[in-house]
Amino acid sequence: PNVLLLGPPGAGKGTQSVNVAEEYDVPHITTGDALRANKDMETEYGTPREFMEAGELVPDPVVNEIVAEALSGGEGYVLDGYPRNTEQAEYLADITALDVVCLLAVSESEIIKRLTGRRVCKECGANYHVEFNPPKEEGVCDECGGELIQRKDDTEDTVKERIRVYHESTEPMVEYYREAGVLEEIDGDGTPEEVWAELRETIDAAI
Ligand code: AP5
Ligand code: ZN
Repeated sequence: PNVLLLGPPGAGKGTQSVNVAEEYDVPHITTGDALRANKDMETEYGTPREFMEAGELVPDPVVNEIVAEALSGGEGYVLDGYPRNTEQAEYLADITALDVVCLLAVSESEIIKRLTGRRVCKECGANYHVEFNPPKEEGVCDECGGELIQRKDDTEDTVKERIRVYHESTEPMVEYYREAGVLEEIDGDGTPEEVWAELRETIDAAI
C-alpha cells in the first residue's frame, strides 16, 4: 500500500511508521531522518540544520528532491513527515497516488510531554521515552548499545514553535486531503499498541 501518516510533532508518526513498514513490507520514507542525516548539506537556502533547530520547515525544493529520489524505486511505502504543506502535497500528487492518509490526532499537552521526554539512539535512530518507553538501561539503546540523546529541537520552546508551524502550514493541507476524500482520522492519544490496532484496521479497510 501507499500510506501517508500525518499529525503534529510527537503524534507518533515515527513510532507507528515502523509498524506499518514491518506489517506491509514497505520502505519507511521519512524526511525528518533524511534531513537529520544531511543537516550540514549546503543548499542555495543554507543548511537544513538552521531551519530544523529553529523548528521551521526546510524549503520545499530541498525536501521535494529527497522524496522524489526515495520514491523512484519499488512499490508501496509509508511516508512520515512529508508532505507538510499544500505545495508539497501538490508536488507529491504529480509523482504518486496515495491509497490512504491517516491523521494521528493528539492533544497539545500530550505532545509536549512526549517530545520533551523523547530520547533517540545516536547510532541506529531507535526511539525511546524516559517515562512511556524507557530503555532497559538508562541512556543506552536496547537494540544496538548506542548512546541515547535528546534531539536539539525537542526543547519546550522549539516544540511550541513546531506546533505553531503545524497549525499554520500543515493543517490547511489536512483539509486538502479531507476534500480529496482520502483522509482517515485516528485517535493518537492511546497507548502505542492501541494506536497501532486502529491504524492497522484503517489501512486494511482502505487497500
Ligand atoms: P520530523 O523529524 O518529521 O519531526 P516531527 O514531524 O516534528 O515529528 P516527530 O519526529 O517529532 O514526532 P513523531 O510524530 O514521529 O513522534 P514519535 O513517534 O517520535 O521533522 C523535524 C524537522 O525536520 C521539522 O521541524 C522540519 O524542520 C524538518 N522537516 C521534516 N520534514 C519536512 C518537510 N516535509 N518539509 C519541510 N521541513 C521538514 O513519538 C514521539 C515520542 O512519544 C517518542 O518518545 C515516543 O516513544 C513517544 N510515543 C509515541 N507514541 C506514543 C504513545 N502512543 N503513547 C506514549 N508515548 C508515545
Ligand atoms: Zn541504537
